[in-house]
Parts: sequence; structure tokens; C-alpha cells
Amino acid sequence: MTDKNYEIISEDIRTDSDKIIELKNCNEQFFIMEGRRKKYHILTYGCQMNEHDSEKIAGMLTSVGYEETDDEKQADLVIFNTCLIRENAELRVFGKLGEVKGLKRNNPHMLVAVCGCMMQRQEIREKVLKKFSFVDIIFGTNTIHELPMLIYDAEINKRKSVGIVDDTKSIYENMPKRRKFKHKALVNITYGCDNFCTYCVVPYVRGREKSREPDDIIREIKALAEDGCKEVTLLGQNVNSYGRNLDKKVTFADLLYQINKIDGIERIRFMTSHPKDLTDDLITAIKECGKVCRHVHLPVQAGSNEVLRRMNRKYTKEHYLSLVEKLRKDLPDIAITTDIIVGFPGETEEDFLETIDMVKKVRFDSAFTFLYSMREGTAAAKMENQIPDDVKHKRFDRLLEVLYPIVLEKNKECLGKVFPVLVETVENNRLTGRTEHFRLVHFKGSRDLVGEIVNVRITKVKTFHMEGEILE
Ligand code: SAH
Ligand code: SF4
Ligand code: F3S
Repeated sequence: MTDKNYEIISEDIRTDSDKIIELKNCNEQFFIMEGRRKKYHILTYGCQMNEHDSEKIAGMLTSVGYEETDDEKQADLVIFNTCLIRENAELRVFGKLGEVKGLKRNNPHMLVAVCGCMMQRQEIREKVLKKFSFVDIIFGTNTIHELPMLIYDAEINKRKSVGIVDDTKSIYENMPKRRKFKHKALVNITYGCDNFCTYCVVPYVRGREKSREPDDIIREIKALAEDGCKEVTLLGQNVNSYGRNLDKKVTFADLLYQINKIDGIERIRFMTSHPKDLTDDLITAIKECGKVCRHVHLPVQAGSNEVLRRMNRKYTKEHYLSLVEKLRKDLPDIAITTDIIVGFPGETEEDFLETIDMVKKVRFDSAFTFLYSMREGTAAAKMENQIPDDVKHKRFDRLLEVLYPIVLEKNKECLGKVFPVLVETVENNRLTGRTEHFRLVHFKGSRDLVGEIVNVRITKVKTFHMEGEILE
């Protein structure tokens, strides 16, 4: 798909349809009769995109009179927001659906909805409808705004309701959102993906890449700041290609400069950067924008040029290493994290050793590591020479043996130093937050500090977290 012939339409969602108004009235009536609001419970699987979609689903439900419950047994509506990036993500959803079947037997009025990436695939929808016939509502990643209408059909018309749109040219603005945290927020900047890495289902389930209008993004972040939000994470499958299909020429770097000016916002993060599109302009923007965190998540996936070529990643090991060098030269304290896949079809021992070499050369601050999982419909699923499970597992373990000591070494470099930490959660006077470099820190302190940025001296480090003490 070229940029030009793909016209994106930004539109506001409708909240005034007859069905929505009637559903609201019914829920009000329920409240008057029963003395409580109907409750929903959302189970979210997968990435931050899905986390944020769940915040939109929660917003839509709140706007028609539902309230949230942590306890699925108490719920009148249970929603599964699903992921199919790897086979085990899919298996977890099916396992949990089996459990919920029992709940529904005890409470026949409970509605069960399944949505998210899995539902964008016809064969999986059919499987759910057949094997889990108690499911009342199915919707997808492009139809979240239709949820009230679908509930209406399931509840009032007693119909199984399915709302799926394969791909859309529309971006729905002003969807109500019920955000999980007050002090930090996820903000979409692009939807979909055009990269078609050969192992990945995302382009098939999230559609073509679409960028939101910069004004819409800025408006949303200003409103968040007014509401007390201090940190935004800009979301896109490949944030570096932001703006490619907008009429107005605006790049991701331009967008960062604009967001950096918004009063009240103190930290700007973004996920995910694709190495093929990381420009010098972006590195300069990270350097010049004081609020942009010194952290890039830059998935490398593999170290062998042959594997990278067959993955369709469109960069080489040498290019990746040159980006790391440039980043560290311009921003000496930048944290670089990554994603690595082990056991891609045809990966030889030599290819795998190139991945190990990459890890040793870059010395990542942290990494998500995955066993390659064959996904139906992707190009890699058809490749010959799929790697046997035992070989994959052995390589995976060998990778961690190299990676984890490096991560621990990197954390050790933080010992004794002081970092500003945005406090995110509290449990029994133990606060948890993250440094600018995305390191997780636990320390003692008062619960009033949640949402504040405090200075913490690091006293102890492990591989996955650090401990510290607040400076008075
Ligand atoms: N858009 C992001 C990644 C989204 S998916 C990017 O391109 O960086 C998150 C991670 O899941 C990917 O980086 C990849 O490492 C992993 N992944 C995707 N498909 C996979 C598969 N079929 N098997 C194993 N890991 C996979
Ligand atoms: Fe998947 Fe590649 Fe797109 Fe990331 S860039 S979502 S890995 S196709
Ligand atoms: Fe995310 Fe999983 Fe969908 S990783 S985009 S929720 S397939």
C-alpha cells in the first residue's frame, strides 16, 4: 500500500444512537431496581496496544452505566481482550474461556464477550463460536466503539452479536477512556503496521498503518496533563514511521518537539522503534527534548544478516550496531532495550552465535526474549526447516546465560547513584516506580508519593529490579 492512495478519515464516535440511549436507560433502571450498577471485568492479554484498548472498552462501558469489578465471579459482563502474537498467548485465552464456562453456568445472565487481535481472524472466531457457544459478543480491534450496540443486541434483542471489520480507514477520535493510572497514560500515535515481518501476525490483525493527526494527539495530551498526568507513552508498532501517510508533512521527531512543550507533562516515552526507520533527526530530538526519556526500545530480533533478511526486517547487523554507536555517542547515558527471537526457521548454529555476539557487543540494558512461534498465515510459517523445539529451548537457555549477567552488570553500574523515579504503585509502604531508563525500583515510602517523581539512591540491584532509599 503506498502512502498516497490510502486516505485516512478521522471521525468522532457516535454516542447518541437510539440503541446507546436505550442501553443507558436500561442500565439506569437496573440501578434503581437493584441498588447497584451492572459490573464488568476485563481480562487483557498481549501488548500495550491491547492494554490501552481495554482502557477504551472500560470508558465505553462506564459511559453507558457499567462499573468495574476486580472479581470476575461478580461480573455481569466478562470481556476477553485477546492476543495471538505467539501460540501460548492464544492457548492462555482458550484455557481461561474454559474456566469462565463454569461461571456462566452458575450465572446465566452473565454476558461473555471476546475481542482483540484473535477475533480479527475468521478461523479463530469460528472456533470460538463453535467450541465456546456460551460466548454472547464478538468484536475486533476496529469495532471497540460499537460495543454498546453489540451489548444492546445481546442483552435486549437476545441475539449473539458479532461486530468485525477487517481493516478500516477510519480513526475514531474522542472515545471515552477509563485510564488505569492517573499519573501515566498510553497514547496512540499510529495504528496498524505495514512492515510484514515474516513471523508476525500484527499486520494481519491490526490492518494498515495509520497515523493520528498531530493536533488530535496534542489535544489529548494537553487534556491528560490538565488531569494530573505526568508521563505519556506514545504507542505505535513502529513509531518512527509516524506521519508517513498524513497530508501535512510531520515526522515523529517533529511530534516529540511539540509534545515536549506541553506544560505538566514531565516524561515522554515511546514504543516501539523500528531500527530501519530510526533517523538522525530522531536522535537529535531525543537529545534536545528534555522530557523525552533516555530510553529506546529497539527490537533487534536476530544477529545474523541472513535471518534478518528472511525475517524481512530490512536492516543488517552492521546497521543496527551503527545505530547503537550513534545513540550512545550523542546520548551517553541512554538505555537500549530489545526483543530477540530464537529459533526462527532455518536458524543455524552459526546464525544463533551471531545473535549471541550481538548481545555481547551491544550489552543491552534489558531484553524480551521469545521462542519463535509459528503463526498461521504468515510467510515464515510456510518456510522450510522449522527448528525443532528442543533445539529452540537449548538456544534460548544459552541466550539467557549470556544476556542476564550483562543486564545485572548494567544494573550494578547504578549502585550508589541517585535517580528520579516516578512512583507508580504502593503495597504495604513499599513503593514501586521506574527510572527514566525504565529500570524498576522498589523502596520504602509513604503512599502519598504515588504519582510523584522522587529522588532515590540505589542500594541493591538484581537482574529484574533494583532497591533503593528516598533522599529527603
Ligand atoms: N512492532 C514491534 C513489535 C510487536 S510484537 C516491533 O516491530 O518491534 C512484540 C515482539 O514479539 C516482537 O518484537 C517479536 O520479538 C515478538 N514476536 C512477534 N511475532 C513472534 C512470533 N511469531 N514468535 C515469537 N516472537 C514473536
Ligand atoms: Fe510485527 Fe514487524 Fe510490524 Fe513489529 S514491525 S508489528 S514485528 S510486522
Ligand atoms: Fe499486541 Fe498481541 Fe495484538 S502483541 S497487537 S495484542 S497480537
